[in-house]
Amino acid sequence: MTENKVTRINVRASRQYDILIGRGLLGSAGKLISEIHAPCKALIVSDDTVFGLYGKTVQTSLENSGFSCECFVFPHGEASKNPQNLIQIVSLAAKLHMTRSDIFVALGGGVTGDLCGFAAATYMRGVEFIGIPTTVLAAVDSSVGGKTAVDLPEGKNLMGAFHQPSRVICDTECFKTLDSHTFADGLAEAAKYGVIRSESLFRRFSGDISGETDNIIAECVTIKKDIVEADEFDHGERALLNFGHTVGHAVEKLSEFKITHGHAVAIGMAVIAKCAEAYGLCENGTAKRIVEVLTKLGLPTETELSAREIASAALNDKKASGKTLSLVLPEKIGQAYVHDIPLNELESFLSAK
Ligand code: GLY
Repeated sequence: MTENKVTRINVRASRQYDILIGRGLLGSAGKLISEIHAPCKALIVSDDTVFGLYGKTVQTSLENSGFSCECFVFPHGEASKNPQNLIQIVSLAAKLHMTRSDIFVALGGGVTGDLCGFAAATYMRGVEFIGIPTTVLAAVDSSVGGKTAVDLPEGKNLMGAFHQPSRVICDTECFKTLDSHTFADGLAEAAKYGVIRSESLFRRFSGDISGETDNIIAECVTIKKDIVEADEFDHGERALLNFGHTVGHAVEKLSEFKITHGHAVAIGMAVIAKCAEAYGLCENGTAKRIVEVLTKLGLPTETELSAREIASAALNDKKASGKTLSLVLPEKIGQAYVHDIPLNELESFLSAK
């Protein structure tokens, strides 16, 4: 039997850790965690869908490596990323007499990683956690870089902390159970890395990417790792990762989250690129290339929302403060920059969409 290739990407942030990417890693989760952590109590946090698919494999693997496991399983969906579940997780850890030498394991997509990661950041002022992303979106974005949070009624991710994982185990076999819509959600974030940092990565999306998933994930993670290492606490360069997100978050919110994150970000990237080009703020032809690639990936690039509706929702977002809003614009494919725009000019800027 040939051994599957495992890509190891080392992140040097306030904590140094490896991201392992490969096929069939879930069954080795216990062994891979025991390389960095002595057997202890492990609290596996997962949603009901993912736990049903992979919970047993991960739990058995951990137990075979000497870990004693308990599980916290919550209903899938963004609505579960709330302070009540956070309290339930840390209360369960307390009832289980978990100590700072024990670990949390986030098995699932972005909601699970954010919720479990934040619980790990707060329990006893911080315990280690392992990320096991099971969606493309979580693999290329939320599992890397230590942003953890829960949502408040006032807005998304308003209560959170920077808390880096101790290891990330990304089993790309998990993506086989994703429906095409959820898979495309992740591809939107993957294409984003091409626009902001790598023309060669971006070009790959114009061709046949079937069979390329592992390599593409590794390339995206490498780009994100570089950005996180340069600006872990989000004071500068990390903002580039928000390309497409100002409009994307507005579209997501105005659709009452019926338009999912990746699809909304795809619309956001196309809209902002068109506007930047119309204002002579990026190389001609950039927006067309972005729209072509996103369309090929099965993603939307337009919205019926007016510039006024988008601007008003965007200005209510937590990132709009002071007199200006920082927009991430493409300079050309492979390069992006932050452009500050007066709040009262956002609507007319977006009218070029
Ligand atoms: N998802 C954006 C960031 O990690 O900064």
